[in-house]
Amino acid sequence: MKAVELRDGVYWVGGIDWDLRNFHGYMTQRGSTYNAYLIVDEKITLIDTVKHYLKDELISRISSIVDPSKIDYLISNHVEMDHSGAIPHILEYCPKATVVTSPNGRRGLAKHYGEGWDFEIVNSGDTLDIGKRTLEFLLTPMVHWPDNMLTFSPHDRILFSNDSFGQHIASSERFDDQYPSDIIMEEACKYYANIVLPYGEQVKSELSSAGKLDFDMIAPSHGIVWRKHVAEIIGRYVKWSSNETSKKALVIYDTMWGSTAKMAGAVQSAFEEKGYSVKKMNLQKNHISDIMTEVTDSEFICVGSPTLNNNMLPTTAAFLTYLKGLAPKGRKGVAFGSFGWGGQSIGLIEKELAACGMEVLGSYKANYIPDEDTLIALKDKLKESI
Ligand code: FEO
Repeated sequence: MKAVELRDGVYWVGGIDWDLRNFHGYMTQRGSTYNAYLIVDEKITLIDTVKHYLKDELISRISSIVDPSKIDYLISNHVEMDHSGAIPHILEYCPKATVVTSPNGRRGLAKHYGEGWDFEIVNSGDTLDIGKRTLEFLLTPMVHWPDNMLTFSPHDRILFSNDSFGQHIASSERFDDQYPSDIIMEEACKYYANIVLPYGEQVKSELSSAGKLDFDMIAPSHGIVWRKHVAEIIGRYVKWSSNETSKKALVIYDTMWGSTAKMAGAVQSAFEEKGYSVKKMNLQKNHISDIMTEVTDSEFICVGSPTLNNNMLPTTAAFLTYLKGLAPKGRKGVAFGSFGWGGQSIGLIEKELAACGMEVLGSYKANYIPDEDTLIALKDKLKESI
């Protein structure tokens, strides 16, 4: 397997995970890559590695450029094992290499792999002289773990951004001018919604600090490298981290005998008649990680479930648990559902939406099968509160 040159002396040497379809609950229908980068200078430097099962691919790509035993520095921008999993294997080739990481990176790597490596701890503003290049570091805690950091090469004008600006796409193409840009943006949005969303404030701080750096290429740790749409992806991160929404309502529901589906239709009509764009997503047909992508620009999150065993349907509960963890800010909620006798699901949904920090505009119940008049009344009442 071959390395791919990014700039003179800088190579992508990562692994392509064509078969990956589930990343702890995030459906990765296009697979992914774990991007590692090799810089050939007076000191041979490797930035990040790959998941453990792609270690041979990593070694093969490095070996197409240099003997892996020549590596002097191994920069670990992030402890999570999709990026650190092959460090132990690499160090078998170059046991004298120094692992360069943040203070939290040092702690995290020791918890994962034990003590015994030669570490150099860096903080924001610290530099590493590797010859022609002096690399700079910027700590970005909680984007996405406490240990995350960025590595910047002023010589190459490349920002090695780790999780930030990533996308889960497996491809033989490496650059954003070689792959359909709408798909890259869609996957970047899905990645933000499912990985980065809880850390909007940290992203703002990262964008402010990284914005002072002079780069024209972003090399993330997943997916495609940005060189054509750098300003565009930064603009999207500014927008996403500010929780800016569109005039859009997301109607998410599951249904037992079709009654809550009818109510979802009435909710849809209410928003459409108020001039909103609506996306209706049945939890039996849509994966929760795809629904999260739609949450990024939705002003309203409307959630419906009938009552089952004094509770909501498990699909709805799973979605709300996932939503609460990802904690989107500044959205408004609506709860709805049909019931036979208990009717608890609607109040439980309302409570969960409130626990997500949403202003809940109303909860709507229908007994057994809502007739046309009931649906019109629901629609009209909801329209009044929008
Ligand atoms: Fe791709 Fe937080 O690791």
